[in-house]
Amino acid sequence: MSGLCLGTVQLGMKYGVNNALGRQPTEEESFAVLRAAQKGGVDYLDTASAYGEAETLLGKFDVSRFRVISKLQPGLDQAADETSILREVELSLHRLNIQQLYGYMLHRAEDMENDVIVRGMMTARETGYVEKIGVSVYEPEEALRVVQSGDWDMIQIPYNVLDQRLDSTDFFELAEKNHVQVFARSAFLQGLLLMEPERLPAQLEKARPYIEKFRHTVAGHQCSVEEGAMLFSYCHPGIDKVVFGVDTETQLMRNLELCNKAESFKDCWKELHGAFSDVPRDVIVPSLWKN
Ligand SMILES: NC(=O)c1ccc[n+]([C@@H]2O[C@H](COP(=O)([O-])OP(=O)(O)OC[C@H]3O[C@@H](n4cnc5c(N)ncnc54)[C@H](OP(=O)(O)O)[C@@H]3O)[C@@H](O)[C@H]2O)c1
Repeated sequence: MSGLCLGTVQLGMKYGVNNALGRQPTEEESFAVLRAAQKGGVDYLDTASAYGEAETLLGKFDVSRFRVISKLQPGLDQAADETSILREVELSLHRLNIQQLYGYMLHRAEDMENDVIVRGMMTARETGYVEKIGVSVYEPEEALRVVQSGDWDMIQIPYNVLDQRLDSTDFFELAEKNHVQVFARSAFLQGLLLMEPERLPAQLEKARPYIEKFRHTVAGHQCSVEEGAMLFSYCHPGIDKVVFGVDTETQLMRNLELCNKAESFKDCWKELHGAFSDVPRDVIVPSLWKN
């Protein structure tokens, strides 16, 4: 089974296709989420300098007991040099109020092509500011480049019931062979997978047949949609940590409970695995969800 990593974009800005809370959580609500995560044994936090107030909020909470992963600001000036990458890491450490990051990732996979940025990332690791370096990706081709290159210790991929694209490549085998730690985000596809088909926004109506098929499959195994979505990623043998987002402490507690049911999920997992190879890209890539 995988472990869990709490994502924090939801705590730093208003986010998500559904956003049941309808707003960004307050500082006190966010602290309640972090306290519950710590108490529940979640060891990892995923954040980024691009997540609005997230790093500063985490800095006000004591996150020194978590393994914190942050990401390089996307779109750094072309003239960025190694020193500017180190300065970005220092700024993140300062905002987070910690001495060392467990992980630091490129937020934009295109930055892998920039030798200066890659060298800056390696220097950040050599200086001890960062234990591991990695890349957060959106596309299977980018993921394959990361695990083939030998430069990176970790990767964050999108992965969920509707987005099983990496299973039809040798990504997971390569990640294991080359010792790249795999973090998988979007188990709930930003909340889309949990929505009632009748409540889908007009621009996501095309997701309806896949959502209905998913709901039908999990119901056949007496599983809830939350269980189906979370446990599908959690039970994947190639995923080290599932990066999940929540807006409330209640959702966090619920997600921890779901993971206790992993043992009984095997048959449902087998039926879902490989069953969604025809989902259009504009359903599984949130940046293509147009209003
Ligand atoms: N490029 C990148 O590196 C990148 C991109 C995106 C995200 N991330 C990271 O990944 C993390 C996860 O984000 P994601 O977009 O992938 O989201 P996700 O984990 O697929 O979905 C999170 C959303 O699902 C809903 N949810 C979660 N638990 C629930 C429960 N028990 N019951 C009902 N609803 C529940 C909540 O939305 P509602 O209540 O609003 O419906 C929540 O905001 C982020 O926090 C961030 O750290 C990284």
